[in-house]
Amino acid sequence: MVAAWITALPRSPRVLRRTALGALLGAASGLARAAKPAVLLRFSHVVAPDTPKGQMALRFQALVHERAEGRIRVEVFPDSQLWGDDDEMEALRLGAVEMLAPSLSKFGNAGVPEFEVFDLPYLFADLAQVRRVTQGAVGRGLLQRLGRQQMLGLGFLDNGFKQMSATRALRTPADFKGLRVRVQASRVLAAQMRALGARPVVLPFGETQRALASGVVDAAENPLSNYLTQGLAPWQPHVTLTQHGYLGYAVVSNPRFWASLAPADRALLGSALTDALAHGNRLSAALDKQALATLRRTPGVMLHQSGAAERAVLRRAVQPAWDGLRRSLGPKLLDEVQDALAAG
Ligand code: SIN
Repeated sequence: MVAAWITALPRSPRVLRRTALGALLGAASGLARAAKPAVLLRFSHVVAPDTPKGQMALRFQALVHERAEGRIRVEVFPDSQLWGDDDEMEALRLGAVEMLAPSLSKFGNAGVPEFEVFDLPYLFADLAQVRRVTQGAVGRGLLQRLGRQQMLGLGFLDNGFKQMSATRALRTPADFKGLRVRVQASRVLAAQMRALGARPVVLPFGETQRALASGVVDAAENPLSNYLTQGLAPWQPHVTLTQHGYLGYAVVSNPRFWASLAPADRALLGSALTDALAHGNRLSAALDKQALATLRRTPGVMLHQSGAAERAVLRRAVQPAWDGLRRSLGPKLLDEVQDALAAG
């Protein structure tokens, strides 16, 4: 749900002038207004349309177009077509795009290290637990912290739980030894791979498929919808269902853009986003299940179910990632997250 304070932001004097001028011009030419929307919102993301994030963005676009009657146009750019991981947040700050939904793992490197708490391996047992954190006080506090980096946090979206892929099954720490594993730019994820004896290689999502295909990296961790839609099966035929970590997103906008909107447009965008996020969050588990069923039928893909005992061994092995986060952030946030989980 998009917080009420976000839809109640004040408007800047420049925007008031622009709106007054717009009203005059609009009255003079209804036709011109119909041809050219008053607001253009570019929504850039790095994954395929057929993923929870891709579907959420398309639902947001459809809802805005349906409700705004031509006043607001949303353009969605999937697959890093407009901006990739390395430049999308800077583009947002500079006003070269109005909305993004980076994975939570990417905010640490952008100056909000608290988001790396979501990367802790085996922190969450299921999506219901994730939501106790994202949809409660802890989640609200985290979204507000994005303001420190000139981003307006609007809401959370799930993808799901990550599984390991490689050219062999990855069941025990011994299987990880020496592998170069692509990770997102997160200290916790790098520490997790080092703790397993692997070498973390930070790469933007848009370069991952090529890096796996050319052998620059040997393995990757992804929710199944990303593994499937990136077509990783030919190079990563072994998928071990480790379920070891969560991957989700925060939808962010540029605070200046948001403040520049007329209150009615801001409210419209806020409620369309709330509905689109609910849609995406309903879809995430279903798309994960669907991807699993597709992979079971895909020739050449070998699925390995990690057992409870194997998971317990991996879980013990990745403790250094937890210790590192506690050292770098202090205990407070982790305690709050664990309290939220316990309260459920
Ligand atoms: C995404 O789902 O947006 C990409 C995650 C990744 O970089 O692995």
